[in-house]
Amino acid sequence: MSRSNAGLIGRRALLGGLVAAPVVLQFGLARAADAYLFPLGVASGDPAPDGFVIWTRLAADPFAADGLGGLSGTIETRWEVAADEGFRRIVAAGQVQADPRAAHAVHVEVTGLAPGRPYWYRFTAGGQQSPAGLSRTTPAPGAHVDRLRLAVASCSNWEAGYFSAYGHMADETPDLTLFLGDYIYEYSASGERAAKAVRRYGLEEATTLAGYRNRYALHRTDADLQRLHAAAPCLAVWDDHEVLNNYSGVWPDKGGDPRPFLQRRAAGYQAFYEAMPIRRTSLDARMQMQIHKHIRYGRLAEFHMLDGRQYRSRGACVDEGGARGQIVTDAACADRLDPARTFLGFEQERWLYEGLARSDAAWNILGQDLVMAGLRFENRGEDIRYWTDTWDGYPAARDRMTEALATLKPRNPVVLSGDYHSFWTNDVKRDSRDERSATVATEFVGTSITSGGPPYEGLMSAMPANPHIKFFDSRVRGYMSIDVTPKRMITRYQTISGVRDPKATLATLNTWAVEDGRPGALAA
Ligand SMILES: [Fe+2]
Repeated sequence: MSRSNAGLIGRRALLGGLVAAPVVLQFGLARAADAYLFPLGVASGDPAPDGFVIWTRLAADPFAADGLGGLSGTIETRWEVAADEGFRRIVAAGQVQADPRAAHAVHVEVTGLAPGRPYWYRFTAGGQQSPAGLSRTTPAPGAHVDRLRLAVASCSNWEAGYFSAYGHMADETPDLTLFLGDYIYEYSASGERAAKAVRRYGLEEATTLAGYRNRYALHRTDADLQRLHAAAPCLAVWDDHEVLNNYSGVWPDKGGDPRPFLQRRAAGYQAFYEAMPIRRTSLDARMQMQIHKHIRYGRLAEFHMLDGRQYRSRGACVDEGGARGQIVTDAACADRLDPARTFLGFEQERWLYEGLARSDAAWNILGQDLVMAGLRFENRGEDIRYWTDTWDGYPAARDRMTEALATLKPRNPVVLSGDYHSFWTNDVKRDSRDERSATVATEFVGTSITSGGPPYEGLMSAMPANPHIKFFDSRVRGYMSIDVTPKRMITRYQTISGVRDPKATLATLNTWAVEDGRPGALAA
């Protein structure tokens, strides 16, 4: 039997009580014939002018407890990229071995393609063919580009609802999809929350590689999400829930010993790589894994995709017994103001500022996980309070960022953020303590695909002290749809009718315009 057929013997087949080897082999082959190997769909991402990454993960039993999808051994997998939807003009093709060490995830970094055009791709394994996906190369670096459509998502909690927002994103036929974090949630609801869950994970909290792999596998069985991934290439970065709620760097959410947490973090990071159509990356000797990247889109845009979790300093004032993501005052927490603390890590900071200085694109889009502009909780006569899990917990790092934007003057910086399960339209101020200081960037914070929002009334009561926040709404779920043209960026806040309806309808909550050369959004 070939190596590829050997790989198709399912875990269940091997555990099926069969003792004679030839019978096991026959059983394995029989099973291979009826198990569909592409239940997790296909995806593409990290486009360049000459190619992109195409992805699939083979599985016969996607939630097998060992995280290996009911498969063992390597499986020969053929890939094809075509210039037409009917696959009559194949322009690139090859064979790869889907390997159990990567849970049979397949990443092919396709090269040699023409810039600025669509391509279709598919895989074949075990005599079966995957669904086809549509991807796109980016335009040549110097190319003039009239228009770029983005669909921007964050925070898709499976238990909180159906992913109809992902389906609507696919229907918008974006050129590029951005995932800004919390693509999965590591925990499972318990108690009262569990009773309210729209659909249960049926999985224990993810803490191991197998656990994280199965979370991603579950998400990828969702028809709306599969359709979105098959409709456009994506750029993906993570936030906290790809590993653990509110972790910071090497520290778990409530402080404690980083060593066991590093093992867990490494498992989460590896599963992220395996599940996402991103370029090759791996854990280094420090158990770090780089996901930040610059992606250029002709002369129109440059994306600076950031990692706001992995390299951060420890959260402020955790030693005083608080959890991560607490609300503190300066009197109670001087640690927050320490200039030695970093949000992106000093290496990523330098990399970003060099990228911003070098960029000559019309729009510089910073895709990242956490709200940058800041929010002061201010009651008359009381000290100002800050939420420490966002950039507000790292004000010196934010000052360096806003100074870099003010002095390097990249053209039209726009920050796209997730995490807060609410829409925000912000002016990012040069000095976040001074509302009269210059606006150095425009920020849009998308709401969540499904995850529940923070209390609306409570947040709204803080808004009068924060005039740089022009709009806030935490009551709706959805995503951002953005059209970029050389002279203007239009951002639509798209909302779904509800998370309990798998066929929820779409509405536009409001629309924002950013004009070339004028930071700050205007209601359109
Ligand atoms: Fe979230």
